[in-house]
Amino acid sequence: MSKQGLKRGFLNRILGIPATKTPIDSDCWAYSDGVLTVDLARAPELSKPGGAMRLEGNGLPERVLVFQGDDGEFRAFKNRCSHIGHRRLDPVPGQNCVQCCSVNGSMFEYDGDNLKGPAPHPAKTYEVHKEGASLEIKLA
Ligand code: FES
Repeated sequence: MSKQGLKRGFLNRILGIPATKTPIDSDCWAYSDGVLTVDLARAPELSKPGGAMRLEGNGLPERVLVFQGDDGEFRAFKNRCSHIGHRRLDPVPGQNCVQCCSVNGSMFEYDGDNLKGPAPHPAKTYEVHKEGASLEIKLA
């Protein structure tokens, strides 16, 4: 069965505004020596499947999308579609995939493989290690 993308307003798609927000608590994450660490106790957005946050700026070398997948596993993507617009990605709850926020809305499997749309390459993913109440994501 074909996976369905997020239902988003056309204006959001034209402007490339992602559904996923930056963290409520901007101090819930830190980046040092190539490792992004997320404190789950300060990141309620990630407390249930489909929950997500986008991390960017503040010394982070690239934008990162972190979310809890439909299967309860935490996942991290480089938050940059491989299509020419290089827009941000959002998880698609209930569909086990992520989708670009642009009009073309390319979709990717949880392993980054292309699923649908014009994106020419897979999305980059990162391994996520859960250590107690923290997530460790090695970017470098
Ligand atoms: S930028 Fe993602 S489909 Fe165009």
